[in-house]
Amino acid sequence: MSSAPLPWHLLPDNASIGHSGQLLIGGCDTTEIAASFGTPVFVYDEDHLRARCREAVTAFGHHATYATKAFLCVAMARLAFEEGMSLDVATGGELHVALAAGVPAGRLVMHGNNKSAGELAMALDAGVGRIVVDSFEEIDRIEALVGAGRPAPMVLLRVTPGVEAHTHEYIATGQDDSKFGFTVSTGVAHRAVERAAASPAMDLVGIHAHIGSQVFRAASFAAVVGVLADFTLPLGLPELVVGGGLGVAYVEGEEAPTISQWAKILLDAAADSGITASIGIEPGRSIAAGAAITLYTVGTIKALDGIRTYVAVDGGMSDNPRPVLYGSGYEAFMPAAVEAARERSVRVVGKHCESGDLLVREANVPELLEVGDLLATPVTGAYGHSMGSNYNKVLRPPVVFCRDGDARLVVRRETHDDLLLTDLG
Ligand code: LLP
Repeated sequence: MSSAPLPWHLLPDNASIGHSGQLLIGGCDTTEIAASFGTPVFVYDEDHLRARCREAVTAFGHHATYATKAFLCVAMARLAFEEGMSLDVATGGELHVALAAGVPAGRLVMHGNNKSAGELAMALDAGVGRIVVDSFEEIDRIEALVGAGRPAPMVLLRVTPGVEAHTHEYIATGQDDSKFGFTVSTGVAHRAVERAAASPAMDLVGIHAHIGSQVFRAASFAAVVGVLADFTLPLGLPELVVGGGLGVAYVEGEEAPTISQWAKILLDAAADSGITASIGIEPGRSIAAGAAITLYTVGTIKALDGIRTYVAVDGGMSDNPRPVLYGSGYEAFMPAAVEAARERSVRVVGKHCESGDLLVREANVPELLEVGDLLATPVTGAYGHSMGSNYNKVLRPPVVFCRDGDARLVVRRETHDDLLLTDLG
C-alpha cells in the first residue's frame, strides 16, 4: 500500500489547509470543530452541497429531485429546495421532516415499495407533487383513499426495465428479480399503465426507473435510457424519471463522473432515442457524499505483533454502517496534519460490541498517530448519518454545516435522556 497523503479530491470542495497543517472546511478549522462540538461529528461543506444541487438543477430544473434518504435533516431539506431541487421522500418519516423544513408539498415526490395506507394518506393530505406507484396493491390503496374524499394525485409508475444483462456492474435494482416496481419484460408494467391510466383516482403523468446506486460509468445510464425508450415512447407520457445512482469516489484511485457529465449522457441518450418527455433525475449520494467528513477521536491503539494494529475510535457502525453492510472502503487521515504521509497500516474500528464493527479495514495513517488524536474519514456525507443507529445505546453524532468560516450546528448530538424519550418503562 502506498504511504501517500490523503488524495485531495476526496475532500469537500472548500477544503483548505490552516497555518499548522490542519484541515479547514468552508473556512472552519476542523480541530476547533472537534473541540467545540465533540466527536464523533459530521462536518459538511455547505457550499459543496449547494454547488452539487445547482449542477443538477442547471441540467434538469425542478425535475432534479434530491433523494433525501442519502442525508436528511431540516437544514438539508431547506438547502436542496432553496437551490431549486424537488425532494424525493420514501417514507412517512422522510415526508414529515421535509414538510417540517417548510418545503412545499408540491415539490415532494413520494416513493417507497410498500407505502402503507397511512403514509399514502399523509402524502395525499399534504398534497405531494407526485407519487411514484410501485405495486397494484398501492393502486388499490390510492383508489380507496381518493374514493373516501382525498384529492387524486399525479402519479408515475415505477418499472423494472430488466437491464441486468447490459449492465452487470450495477448494485442492482433495475433487473427483473427485484422487489421494486412493475416488470417490463413480462408485460406487468403494461398492465399497470392500463390500470393507472383508466383510474379516475389518479392522473398518470410518467414512468420512473432507478437501476441502482454507486454506478461509476455514466455511459451505463445511456443503455438504460435506451431500454426505457422502447417502453415509454408508445405511451406518450410527459415525464420520465431515470432515478439516481451516480457513483462517487471513496478511496484513492477511484474517479467518478460529475453530475454535469452524467446529465449530458442522459439527455443525449434521451434525445438519441427520440424521447420528448421531460427527463428527471433523483441523485442522493452524488449531492451529499463528498460534502462531509466524520471526525473521530482515537481511544485505544492495540498493536498485535505479526498480526495487525487496531485503532479504535469513538464511533463506528452506528454512524457509518456501510463498511459492515457492503464491505465499502474508506480512507482515514489526521485532520491536524492533512498532508502528512500515511506510512502505518492499521485497521480502524469502532466502539461497538462486535468484531465486525470496522470503519476502515485496511487504513493507512501517519506514523505519529496516537491515542487522543483526531482521526477522520472523508466522503461520509451520504448514507452515514441517515443510516445511523443507536446500537449499544451510542448517541447519534451532531451535524455541523460550515460556510465562510462559520460552523453552524444543524443537528445536535443526542443526549442520554433522548435514549429514554420513547421508553415508557
Ligand atoms: N431514487 C430511488 C428510487 C432510490 O431508491 C435511490 C436510492 C435514489 C434515487 C438515490 O440513489 P443515489 O443517487 O443515492 O445512488 N444505502 C446504500 C445506497 C442505497 C440506495 C437506495 N436507493 C449505500 O450506502 O450505498
